[in-house]
Amino acid sequence: MNHKVIIEPFRIKTVEKIKMTTEEERKELIKNAHYNTFLLTAEDVIIDLLTDSGTSAMSADQWAGILKGDESYAGARSWYKMKKAVQDVTGFEFIIPTHQGRAAEHLLYNKIGGKGKIFISNTHFDTTRANIEYSGAKAIDIPIPEGLIPEMYHPFKGNMDTEALKSTIEKYGSENIAAVIITITNNSGGGQPVSLQNVKDVSDICRKNKILYIIDSCRIAENAYFVKHREEQCKDMTYKEIALKMFSLADGTIMSAKKDALVNMGGFLALNDESIFNQLLTTLIITEGFATYGGLSGRDMEAIAIGLEEVFEHDYLHYRIRSTTYLGEKLQKMGISVISPIGGHAVYIDAKAFYPNIPVHQFPGQSLAVELYKTGGIRAVEIGSVMFGSRDEQGNFVPAKMELVRLAIPRRVYTQSHIDYVVEVFEELIKQKHLAKGYKVTWEPEFLRHFTAHFEPVG
Ligand code: F0G
Repeated sequence: MNHKVIIEPFRIKTVEKIKMTTEEERKELIKNAHYNTFLLTAEDVIIDLLTDSGTSAMSADQWAGILKGDESYAGARSWYKMKKAVQDVTGFEFIIPTHQGRAAEHLLYNKIGGKGKIFISNTHFDTTRANIEYSGAKAIDIPIPEGLIPEMYHPFKGNMDTEALKSTIEKYGSENIAAVIITITNNSGGGQPVSLQNVKDVSDICRKNKILYIIDSCRIAENAYFVKHREEQCKDMTYKEIALKMFSLADGTIMSAKKDALVNMGGFLALNDESIFNQLLTTLIITEGFATYGGLSGRDMEAIAIGLEEVFEHDYLHYRIRSTTYLGEKLQKMGISVISPIGGHAVYIDAKAFYPNIPVHQFPGQSLAVELYKTGGIRAVEIGSVMFGSRDEQGNFVPAKMELVRLAIPRRVYTQSHIDYVVEVFEELIKQKHLAKGYKVTWEPEFLRHFTAHFEPVG
């Protein structure tokens, strides 16, 4: 039998109450949050699709591991368990535990970055870019051109443009390139997968030019699912073999364990170069913690070790990717323009197409995020000109390449009926399209403004 319904491959053992709110209440709540979904109280959210990061439901095995956590300051049993799990998955020898992905980014990119240095990526995630720019270096994104056309089909829209990579290296000189970072899957580019062939092609270019090659691997298992089912040469490999092969082509990896390690906190950096490792260890001990825990508790490390095993299971990955696709395809059927094909951890809506009446400098994505909350209590995030817009030297507004709203799906948290509710809210938003307003920024910080900026509706 060919099953149409995707059943969640788990039973629910513990539940968490959702507080219901009315539309009237939510209008006040979002106004008080300065129309920024990051500033809402999470309790006031019905379906929280802000992020898939740190929001996973842990398994009974992981919770059992929490009790087993060894909290010794140095040489904890849980550290050796995590270290072995990371070595098994990545193949790298030296492992640095950090409290989350960006701490690992700060350690490495601050060390190898600085003024005059260049980083090249398919797309730098926002914390990656911020850490690089904070060091004084420059971050350049070179996704394949197909990656920037929301509705165009390409099996590996997360790929890096290898011709652009060669010309960028030539332009700046290989000695000035601090690292090439391939983000797998490409989060800011739509959660789109990267093919094994592309990881290899980029590797060849990096090796030839002696450039450090890093994989941002926080969604490596989801990527492996796409590779196995879309890339002919990989169809007989296991998900773990695909991941391991990718890692073998790079010099190191940074992983936010808050995604594909199925935990609420954690991260690591893994590499084979002992001299870089030793330099980073000193900074780790000053800023994060001792070498055998970084910023983590023993129990976090236990849960990471178990999560890294569970995430590569076929039943889990099949459910995970199919259920994200389920939401995306329902929205597409309603005529909503989404990044296609649907990515792994999230559905990305083209807000510019949804609200053609709102000009980009009035942030159509912000408007859609606000409307989703007001109408349905759904929390999403704008990934457009609020996040990536800038100003040129004359102070003119430079929009982002796309105006997206991301509906990120927490792992193992929501059921199909929650997702059907999200679809229903979109039906309502379509009816009310003409009422949506643009927004203006009334206050913003210097870096990563989307987290804390204040907005007001225009007109
Ligand atoms: N790299 C990628 C591709 C990410 O998606 C994230 C986090 C990080 C690095 C940083 O990791 O949060 O553990 O410090 N992404 C989250 C998101 C925040 O919502 O997409 P972190």
